[in-house]
Order: sequence, then structure tokens, then C-alpha cells
Amino acid sequence: MTITTAALLAEGTRRLALAGLDCARQDALRLMAQALGIERLAVYVEPRRSVDARAAASFRALVDRRAAHEPVQHIQGYEEFRGLRIAVTPDVLIPRLETEGLVERALELLADKPGALVADIGTGSGAIACGLAVARPDLEVLAVDQSLGALAVASDNVRALGLGSRVRLLAGDLFGPLASLPASLDMVVANPPYCPSGVIPTLPVEVERFEPRLALDGGPDGMRVLRRIITEAPRFLRAGAWLLMEIGEEQAGPLASLMAAEGFSRIGARRDLRDVERYIEGRWAEGAASVPLTGMAAQRVGC
Ligand SMILES: C[S@@+](CC[C@H](N)C(=O)[O-])C[C@H]1O[C@@H](n2cnc3c(N)ncnc32)[C@H](O)[C@@H]1O
Repeated sequence: MTITTAALLAEGTRRLALAGLDCARQDALRLMAQALGIERLAVYVEPRRSVDARAAASFRALVDRRAAHEPVQHIQGYEEFRGLRIAVTPDVLIPRLETEGLVERALELLADKPGALVADIGTGSGAIACGLAVARPDLEVLAVDQSLGALAVASDNVRALGLGSRVRLLAGDLFGPLASLPASLDMVVANPPYCPSGVIPTLPVEVERFEPRLALDGGPDGMRVLRRIITEAPRFLRAGAWLLMEIGEEQAGPLASLMAAEGFSRIGARRDLRDVERYIEGRWAEGAASVPLTGMAAQRVGC
């Protein structure tokens, strides 16, 4: 017995909507493209294409997994990040749209630094490191993570994108693996864990149950790792280098104060599309005066 793509998509969408998923149709479409081995667009272009029983069963099995709140990216094994296909597993945070904004800002700050050496601290899947290295073929990136599982995924991504000669993966705690590189970096970029521990049980099931705790948990106020990066980074930054980080809601104020106290200048926060201060940056240059914290351009966010 066969069924059309349109009817099967409607069935899958209904099932996911009943499971309480906000992006039911979008997810069903992704899973259908995966089950049928076709592009998403083809599902629209050929709504009356008939699907055989085996392909329909494989689609329904994927929908069952998604209905149990397994992230669609885990089911598919990848997420798109700045147009790159980034492999993901439960060992890494699924790269977020907000983090594309972090990479865009990093590229702006690096515009006048040819051949820059950048450290991506807490690289996870390697999304930031790969995004930077693809956009700027002159950059070298040192990508650090404490999780060996995450580094294995990052290694696959670096290799698949042909970046092995410019993205080096290092295992360890924050700047530990960079101990031999004082005053060498042109930028430290990081998307550290910044959720307050107490908030984690309230996160969507997709995040709380399926994404690694080490990627989420920023300690009691969410800023434990962020603070360590601010205090430990200066030893590794050249004069004029940037520290740029993704941050959580209501963290910009205290982090900006800490950056000023540590000697950073040109400290600023940038907002995402939900008008949340999502990024913080500061320039390392001893003796330079600090400027007040300012909100800046919006970035895209969404489902
Ligand atoms: C929020 S995830 C970000 C992953 C990736 N950079 C991204 O933006 O999608 C934070 C990452 O930091 C890593 N991490 C947490 N604490 C760390 C530490 N003390 N040293 C090194 N890496 C750490 C986690 O393993 C995780 O991969």
C-alpha cells in the first residue's frame, strides 16, 4: 500500500503537534527528506509522489523518535551552521542560531588582523572554529574542549571541511592546553556553558535530557566559566586582541564590570533578535581606559 508525500507529511505533522512540538511541520519535513533520501524542497514540489510502505515505515520511526523529544538534529546527525553541515551527537551542544551571530561579530573584529591566531574555548562540535576558518582562510584556530567525546565530533567536522591544517583541536581545561603560548592570541572567542544550574531542570526536554550537562551548566549563577575565561584570558592575549563571548540573560552587567576590573577596554554588549544582551566583547590593551557598556545590533534568533 502506498501513500503520497503530502498525506504522510500531514500525518507526521499532526503526530508531532500532538506531542507538543512547536516546529512540528518543519521537523516532519526534515524527517521526511531524510527517510526518503530527497531534498526538503522535493516534498513540496511533488506532493503527490507516492511513498512505498518501507519508506513510510522508516519515516514513521523517525517521527516516533522526535515525538519522544529527541532533537531533530540528533536524529539527522547534523545541524546547519552558517551554511556548513556540522555533525552533532549527544556529546556536543547543537550549534545555535545565536552563535552564528557570535561568529559574525568575531569576523568583524578580526577584519584588520590578517593571519590572526584565535582560540575557541569550549569548541564542542567545532562550529565556531570551523565557521571562522572557512570564512577566513588566513586564520589559525586553536580549539579547546574538556570533553573528549566533543573533540571526536569536532575532529570529524574539521576533517570533513578540509580544515585540518588550520584548526588544531586540544583537550583540556580552558587555557590549560595553551600554557606555552603567553601573549600570542589575537582573539579568544567562546560560547561557554552559561545556564544557572537551577534553571537546567526547567529547560525543554530536548535540551535538558539530550544535550551534555558540561555544555550547559555554568554553576549557581551561570557565570562560573565566563568569569574564569575573563580572568585567565589576559595572559594569552596580545595587546589589541579581543575577548568575545556568548552570554546568558542578565549577565552582561556583572561580566562587563569584571572585564573592566581586569583591564579590558572598549567593552560592549550586543543584543540578539529577542533584544537580549547575548554577546560581550572587550579589547586587551594594558593602560587603555574603559568605555561604558553599550547595547548594539540585533542578531537573528528563531526555531
Ligand atoms: C555551550 S557549549 C558550546 C559548544 C560550541 N562552541 C558551540 O558554540 O556550539 C560549551 C562547551 O564548553 C565545554 N567546556 C565546559 N567547561 C569547559 C572547561 N572548563 N574547559 C574546556 N571546555 C569546557 C563543553 O564541553 C562544551 O563543549
